[in-house]
Amino acid sequence: MGSKNSMSVTVRVLMVALLLCASMSINNSQLSTTFYSKTCPHLFSIVFFVIANASITDQRIGASLLRLHFHDCFVQGCDASILLNNTATIESEQDAFPNINSIRGLDVVNKIKTAVEADCPNTVSCADILALAAQISVSMGGGPQWSVPLGRRDSLTANRSLANQDLPPPFATLPQLKDFFSRQGLDTTDLVALSGAHTIGRAHCRNFVNRLYNFNNTGNPDPTLNTNYLQTLRMICPQDGSGDNNNLTNLDVSTPNKFDNKYYSNLVSQEGLLQSDQELYSTPGADTITLVNTYSNDMHSFFDQFTDSIIKMGNISVLTGNQGEIRSQCNFVNGP
Ligand code: HEM
Ligand SMILES: *[C@@H]1O[C@H](CO)[C@@H](O)[C@H](O)[C@H]1NC(C)=O
Ligand SMILES: *[C@@H]1O[C@H](CO)[C@@H](O)[C@H](O)[C@H]1NC(C)=O
Ligand SMILES: *[C@@H]1O[C@H](CO)[C@@H](O)[C@H](O)[C@H]1NC(C)=O
Ligand SMILES: *[C@@H]1O[C@H](CO)[C@@H](O)[C@H](O)[C@H]1NC(C)=O
Ligand SMILES: *[C@@H]1O[C@H](CO)[C@@H](O)[C@H](O)[C@H]1NC(C)=O
Ligand SMILES: *[C@@H]1O[C@H](CO)[C@@H](O)[C@H](O)[C@H]1NC(C)=O
Ligand SMILES: *[C@@H]1O[C@H](CO)[C@@H](O)[C@H](O)[C@H]1NC(C)=O
Repeated sequence: MGSKNSMSVTVRVLMVALLLCASMSINNSQLSTTFYSKTCPHLFSIVFFVIANASITDQRIGASLLRLHFHDCFVQGCDASILLNNTATIESEQDAFPNINSIRGLDVVNKIKTAVEADCPNTVSCADILALAAQISVSMGGGPQWSVPLGRRDSLTANRSLANQDLPPPFATLPQLKDFFSRQGLDTTDLVALSGAHTIGRAHCRNFVNRLYNFNNTGNPDPTLNTNYLQTLRMICPQDGSGDNNNLTNLDVSTPNKFDNKYYSNLVSQEGLLQSDQELYSTPGADTITLVNTYSNDMHSFFDQFTDSIIKMGNISVLTGNQGEIRSQCNFVNGP
């Protein structure tokens, strides 16, 4: 009797497990690195070649694509909401303060989408294109390679006010930065490792000029800014005319186009460009200091953690299964 009962319990458990497996394979709520291996086997090389071609005329394109994935994921999840243009029903996130006159690469994303659609129509989401483009950009810059979990679907909505609220500003202090990241399920290690993305790309004067002349109303520059670097930055961003100063400078003063760990050694020599960068090393007693030291001394530990953290970031509130849609044009939801 007893053994017969426990048998049927085992059988029932197995049946439930089988049903769960079956419903999972239909719903596909988890991302998978092989998601398109049957439906779009050449996806990676299509994305790769469009970016490689764009890099010939625009050395900065990889940085801009990497940032798009970040700005997508932090606003209602990695769902390509950032790509939606203004329409009667969409208030584009592209016009939110952290994005306006700042994000780049939307045209290249559209070129990728066109090339992908030509090979695999109605199959690959714009959100997955952003995640793949970020990985390809990092590895083309000399950074780590990883297999990108795929299977995201595209949103039917965008949220400009959420973009204004959830994207961290360059003037944030360390406790504020930690808060922005923890709201996305990312921890302090993720914050430090993902900030290493600033090993490539550029920033406008308006995002750091506050550190150069009258920091925090002290009448002096930011004391955590290397004085030689300060002189260089003051030439690029003069005090007067800083209002309409569109000058750009490199986020990584040592190796501006190479994805390496120099971002962290810059922080150690007080040559972080943004306040949000330097805070990671110069906040007294902070738990981020040892991480900065580790990554500045050991590129592989940075690369390993960056890989883990960007996969984690790429998993934020993704749409899967039959949620959302596969957009046919990344800037607009599909027509009625
Ligand atoms: C930790 C909080 C962060 C803040 C406050 C921040 C802020 C900024 C700012 C202000 C710029 C310059 C924008 C401009 O002047 O036009 C920038 C550029 C950039 N950010 Fe961040 N960022 C953060 C984290 C990240 C993360 C997590 C990534 C990616 C994983 C990232 C990738 C980039 C890249 C690649 C650029 C250069 C883009 C280009 O040259 O087009 N950032 N960031
Ligand atoms: C290659 O790059 C050039 C210059 O940016 C651009 O005009 C062209 O459309 C690109 N071709 C492809 C296939 O992406
Ligand atoms: C979407 O808006 C951007 C400006 O944010 C513009 O450059 C682009 O041409 C628009 N795309 C389409 C397909 O209308
Ligand atoms: C945007 O997000 C906020 C906060 O989650 C929410 O209250 C609001 O309804 C959203 N707006 C749109 C247009 O989805
Ligand atoms: C700016 O000044 C305020 C008030 O003096 C102080 O509490 C705050 O810590 C300062 N911020 C920075 C980043 O130094
Ligand atoms: C832009 O930077 C250059 C130096 O790189 C400087 O000579 C020029 O005055 C700056 N322009 C403005 C508008 O600040
Ligand atoms: C992605 O998110 C799902 C759902 O929250 C979770 O079950 C899964 O473990 C996450 N995967 C990674 C790699 O973080
Ligand atoms: C997929 O499964 C998840 C988790 O069980 C569920 O929340 C979601 O609604 C399902 N989506 C669809 C389209 O069935």
